[in-house]
Amino acid sequence: MAERREMNRILVTGAVGQIGSELTVALRHRYGAENVVATGHRTKPTGELCEGGPFEYIDVAQRQTLEAVVDKYGIDTIYHMAAILSAVGEERPLLAWNVNINGLHNVLEVARERGLARVFCPSSIAVFGPDTPRDDTPQETILRPTTMYGVTKVSGELLCDYYVRRFGVDVRGVRYPGIISSETLPGGGTTDYAVAIYYAAVEKGHYTCFVREDTVLPMMYMPDCVRGTIDLMEADFDQLRHHADFNMSSMSFSAGELAAEIKKHVPDFEVEYKPDARQAIADSWPCSIDDSAAREEWGWQPEYDLAAMTADMLAKLRQRAAAGRLYLGEGPTCP
Ligand code: SER
Repeated sequence: MAERREMNRILVTGAVGQIGSELTVALRHRYGAENVVATGHRTKPTGELCEGGPFEYIDVAQRQTLEAVVDKYGIDTIYHMAAILSAVGEERPLLAWNVNINGLHNVLEVARERGLARVFCPSSIAVFGPDTPRDDTPQETILRPTTMYGVTKVSGELLCDYYVRRFGVDVRGVRYPGIISSETLPGGGTTDYAVAIYYAAVEKGHYTCFVREDTVLPMMYMPDCVRGTIDLMEADFDQLRHHADFNMSSMSFSAGELAAEIKKHVPDFEVEYKPDARQAIADSWPCSIDDSAAREEWGWQPEYDLAAMTADMLAKLRQRAAAGRLYLGEGPTCP
């Protein structure tokens, strides 16, 4: 592997999305606001994301729109966060394939042709399927997903690893669990209930949950997600045996346990359970994840558990609700 280039000029795709919006702000604090270009497809950014540094519109599925921004800003690093998530992917599988596979291929080709320093591409617990061991799911295991989102994520991991091996492009990625956050709402995922429930607790005092009470999934709080993502990108390449497929875990709980934790802060909170089509997706994913490879190879260590996350989420949302701005803007819209 050739000598590593520095990460000086960063582009974030999907920067208006749930993870991208907070990752962009963190990257701007770390690398300088003018060195981090936020990009989005259709959704207009708001607040710090809009005012805090450069923003450009691109469509990752149209390679020339990506190339133009990479060349304009002399980009050497891409965090490729743009994707169609699991629930929308089942409604629009061709769109999911186009954005998640052709979009990723465009990013990797731009990185190969221009000799970029590094690319980050998230994978997901959606790479697993009903045949995968559900508890403490190993790093190396059966990857036979039943959703289009999962199919694109398995293919994406393989494509990233191919670019590392075949072309020497430094691509890194993790299998995110469900991500819970207080700023931008998630858009079109199966784990969205674990965010929506907090907003409902603060706003209405009741929530109708679209998965069963006993549904257990791996989850993570956004501060851990952002810190871990940047840590992996800054890790020494020579310490990594895996590249784009690290299991990454933090906590696991059922929808009922989540509701019970919120009730400690909102005693009258009521939750009813009305499973919809997303239940089948949740049932095909693991309950808990073995992330020892991430811990060993780049020092991954989560900080938040369910209690700490819930206290922080409710404090932030209550503060905003009191100021009359609980919702900071919509999550990413589907093109
Ligand atoms: N949060 C994603 C989803 O639910 C999983 O990666 O689709």
